[in-house]
This record gives sequence, C-alpha cells and structure tokens, in this order.
Amino acid sequence: MTIGVLGGGQLGRMLGLAGLPLGFSFVFLDPAEDAPAAIAGEVIRAPWDDAEALATLAAKCDVITWEFENVPEAAARRLAEARPVFPPPESLAVSQDRLLEKQHFARLGIPTPPFAAVATEAEVQAALGTIGLPALLKTRRMGYDGRGQRVLRDAADAGPAVAALGGVPLLLERFVPFERELSVVAARGRDGETAAWPVIENHHGGGILRLSLAPAPRLAEERRTRAEGWARMLLESFGYVGVLALELFETAEGLLANEMAPRVHNSGHWTIEGARTSQFENHVRAVAGLPLGDTAPCGVSAMVNLIGTLPPAGALQGVPGLHLHVYGKSPRPGRKLGHATLCAGSLAEILRLLDRLPPIAGLPHPAHG
Ligand SMILES: Nc1ncnc2c1ncn2[C@@H]1O[C@H](COP(=O)(O)OP(=O)(O)O)[C@@H](O)[C@H]1O
Ligand SMILES: [Mg+2]
Repeated sequence: MTIGVLGGGQLGRMLGLAGLPLGFSFVFLDPAEDAPAAIAGEVIRAPWDDAEALATLAAKCDVITWEFENVPEAAARRLAEARPVFPPPESLAVSQDRLLEKQHFARLGIPTPPFAAVATEAEVQAALGTIGLPALLKTRRMGYDGRGQRVLRDAADAGPAVAALGGVPLLLERFVPFERELSVVAARGRDGETAAWPVIENHHGGGILRLSLAPAPRLAEERRTRAEGWARMLLESFGYVGVLALELFETAEGLLANEMAPRVHNSGHWTIEGARTSQFENHVRAVAGLPLGDTAPCGVSAMVNLIGTLPPAGALQGVPGLHLHVYGKSPRPGRKLGHATLCAGSLAEILRLLDRLPPIAGLPHPAHG
C-alpha cells in the first residue's frame, strides 16, 4: 500500500520512517526544495494548489493524509474525490481558523480562555471590556510556533498590535497565567477504536516548544482523565482517523484548551522510543485501516527540541539513553532542526540526564528537581 502525504517536513519524514518497516511506501507533496521526508519516499515538488500534482499524487497512492496543518482545505477536498483522505478534511478546516477551533471546543463543552473575534482596533478596544488585560491578539489563520501573536498589556497596545498583524481577521484571547502547558496526543482508527498516550508536560520559549516530559509529572488523576476525555470527544466529533493533538493550559482552577493539531505533534516525538507504539506508527496504522498499537509508555521520557543550531557532532550521544533525530534541514534561527529523546526508569533519573546535556539553545530547566 502506498500512502500519500501532503507535506514533506520532519513530521512526514518520521511518518515514513515509522511506516517503511511495516511495508508501506510513501509519496510526499511539498513545494519546498529540500523536503526532509525525501529519505522516506518520492517527493512531488509543487505548490499545494497545483491540480496536476494533486492528480499525480492521487494516482500514485491508495490513501492520503497530511503532516502539515496549513495545507489548503481545498487540496484535501480535491484529493478526497479521488482517494480516501484521513483525517477528515473538516478537522483541517476547523484547526486552521482559531475562531472555528475555539467555537468547536465550546460546542463540545471543552473550556477555553475567553475569546472574541475582532479585526479593527475599535473592535479590540470594545472586546477588551469583556476579555480583560493582559490579553493576546492572534491572527485567526496561518499562525504557528508563536508567530502571528501580540501581547496586549494595556489598551494602548491595541493599535500597534492590529497594525503589526497586518489587517487580517484576528482573535482576542485572555492571557492565561497558567501553571504549565500540557498536551494530549490520541489516535482513532478506521473502526472507531481510540487510544491516547500519557498526558505530556510542555515547556515553550519564544512561542516554540523546547522540552516535553512524559508522562506529565504530578498530574492529578481527575485532570488526566478529563484531558483524555476531551481528546476522545474531539476525535469522535470529526469521525476522525489518525493522530490528533490537543494543547492545554493547566491553571489553579483546572484545565483549559488552547488549540488542536489534526496531525502528529511535536510534543509526541518522545513516543518513538518512549512508548510501545509511536504516534507516527499509529497514524500510519490508522490511515491504513490497521488496528492501533499499544500507547503505554516505557518508563519516563524527555524530548528536547534542537532549534536554530545543532550541537556539535557527538556532543549528545555520550548521554546514556539518549536518542538523536536530525531532520536534514539547513540551520536558520527558530527552525526545528532535530530533537533528542531521553528515556529512563524514573523522573529523577530523567532530570539528572537533562542536567548532563551539553548547552542547548533555549532549553529551559523544568522545575521538578
Ligand atoms: N491565551 C493564552 N494565555 C497565555 N499564553 C498563551 C495563550 N495563548 C498562547 N499562549 C502561549 O503561546 C504559545 C503559542 O500559542 P498557540 O496558540 O499554541 O499558537 P501556535 O502554537 O499555533 O503558534 C502557547 O504554547 C503558550 O505558551
Ligand atoms: Mg500551539
């Protein structure tokens, strides 16, 4: 069976690396010149809206999925006329618009920070009355890794923020003083079976994920169950097939949903070595119509993103239990170039191993010591 993937970035590369041993072949579509997924299959290099390229992809593949969340919904829908496309394109449309996404959460009864759709400075000023300060102004579409966001500390920040974000539809959100960020990565098979990995603790810097710890230390059982329940509700709401991630804020009062990603997720990379079945393998299994694999963790894991620059060759491999993944991308500030996963038997051991890492740009120190 050949699996077509919209997007040929590192997520596509790791999908391919998980699916090749299972006997699948991959064809990727990506406009980029040096797609990291090229090591795992053919890459059709074309713009997302290239009808001929989409037709070629459909002709070469039995089933189609995506690894990039900003693939135009129209491309997914066009492919769906020719081949089964998983996850359902509707999940792509919802996740691409922060307003539709938060409204979808609200319909399912999943709590979020208070939000309002705005476009002009006057609308922001009016909405601040109910949202309160500090607040976050986000572009509704095309944001990622903290791009397309401005913090509003007082009302005077509204004008410059609207101007900086460029006259596009916006979402104003209350700035949540969260205790930590969490995520749930979960999968649903074609037969409706669902499975979730343990809830993950995430540390961001400059809007980019830097470090994930799994299972999230000291998470109350009731909150863990709630987070998993929300992920399952989302999967069911779309009749979803594949892996989905839900990002959460944990506050003193409880959990709030931030956003969802209808794809394999950076906070789930630890599952490659740290779980019985990885998010990549389960995504492949799901879209191919196979049973899902066991999502139980093997001990405790930490995933460290390598952003902007890679440590010198060999600098990381001396740390016991460390698994290095390099994506084959040219270095650029803020660019995800690779990640390293540490696996151990306990949180204490993971924290000791993190202390042994060579300096890694932007790596925070998790406060669990
Ligand atoms: N309402 C909020 N309150 C506090 N921090 C936020 C809020 N929304 C986003 N952030 C911070 O910014 C990061 C990136 O925002 P997010 O909405 O997840 O956008 P994206 O990941 O698509 O860039 C979050 O992981 C979180 O650290
Ligand atoms: Mg996010």
